[in-house]
Amino acid sequence: MRGPGTPGLCYTARMNLDGKHIVLGVTGGVAAYKAAELARELQRAGATVQAVMTAAATRFVTPVTFQALTGRPVYVDQWDARIDDNMAHIELSRRADAILVAPATADFIAKLAHGLADDLLATLCVARDCPLLVAPAMNRQMWLHPATQRNVAQLAADGVAVLGPASGEQACGETGLGRMLEPLELVDELAAHFVPKALAGRHVLLTAGPTYEPIDPVRGITNLSSGKMGFALARACSAAGAQVTLVAGPTALVTPRGVRRIDVRTAQQMHDAVMATLDAPAADEPRPDVFVAVAAVADWRVANASDRKLKKRDAHDLPQLEFVQNPDILAAVARRPDAPWCVGFAAESEDLEANGAAKRAAKGVPLLVANIGHATFGRDDNELLLIDAHGSRRLPRAGKAELAQALVAEIAQRLPPRGS
Ligand code: CTP
Repeated sequence: MRGPGTPGLCYTARMNLDGKHIVLGVTGGVAAYKAAELARELQRAGATVQAVMTAAATRFVTPVTFQALTGRPVYVDQWDARIDDNMAHIELSRRADAILVAPATADFIAKLAHGLADDLLATLCVARDCPLLVAPAMNRQMWLHPATQRNVAQLAADGVAVLGPASGEQACGETGLGRMLEPLELVDELAAHFVPKALAGRHVLLTAGPTYEPIDPVRGITNLSSGKMGFALARACSAAGAQVTLVAGPTALVTPRGVRRIDVRTAQQMHDAVMATLDAPAADEPRPDVFVAVAAVADWRVANASDRKLKKRDAHDLPQLEFVQNPDILAAVARRPDAPWCVGFAAESEDLEANGAAKRAAKGVPLLVANIGHATFGRDDNELLLIDAHGSRRLPRAGKAELAQALVAEIAQRLPPRGS
């Protein structure tokens, strides 16, 4: 399984937590060492972080680590005299936009489920008036224990967001469910928590990345698309509450959590995967309501591709490649009698507005998103021009994650009500 930390993989542009004040609660599990990395990543995403630890957590990592990383004093004791009125539990939660407890041990989850308030962090959670998110981390037997499962269900019923756990290798040497989500996954989950659920109940199907058209078993034709915009959009749609299916050409990007990914190589495979999803969505998915074609699909494939490696002969005997046109996936989807609401992207080198409008009409889609400037491939930022039946509107240069969120809002606004 692909996962964060796998060498050679790139992360999709992060959603931000600008201006958010997060209380990071750390409880006494071995995953506490990852909470230090989490504190850093939360700040990288724009948040300010106030660490609060349980006494048991300080057995694993010292408060000094969090103090150094966050630049703030770390609180452990509910009788801490550093807060003027000695009401740390009120003072610390009052200013928080969210409390994230990571790792959350089985013991701490049990405490929360029963509303116990016998240390500073537990008291803070009971006294809060902001969202509470917990990232369980424990041995798989502890996770599967009926009492833990009961407690987790109680937390969910109380409106607490339970993030994970993931399955995998555990510090105790066993393998199974109970690993804490990786720090970057937790940042994403937290950022998604603040996003309005404008696409709740919708299923969004996207294409992203380049395609690869073989010449022979070791050579092929591709393009410079990194997939970053499509993956950022998949993540933003998921954060906005949609179910998301992402048909991805070859890219090393990590799949955003919660997104169903189908890997393909060629334009024909991408076409077939898209049509199959429209014809027969997975059992737990509604039919796609929105199709967003972000992929840079090869317009042609090699008709006379060889199934053996072509050998180099002399300079006058060069391989002769013949091309055949690939299916236009977007146009084919838009033509279907049961077409979802379609969004196209456009890469144009000149006359962006006129060419974009013509492309929108030719493909028969309600919204076309044109990349402003050619050098967008592989970059982390972009500038977009939205073209619909009423004219055009610019989304100024910003990070791809930010643009993706703005685009989701534009799509949600235009989307006809479900079933209409
Ligand atoms: N597209 C597609 N299938 C293709 C070609 C393009 O689904 N075979 C989609 C792209 O994902 C994008 C839109 O169509 O959403 C426009 O792609 P673009 O490459 O800008 O335009 P083309 O249709 O290929 O036309 P041209 O290259 O001539 O500009």
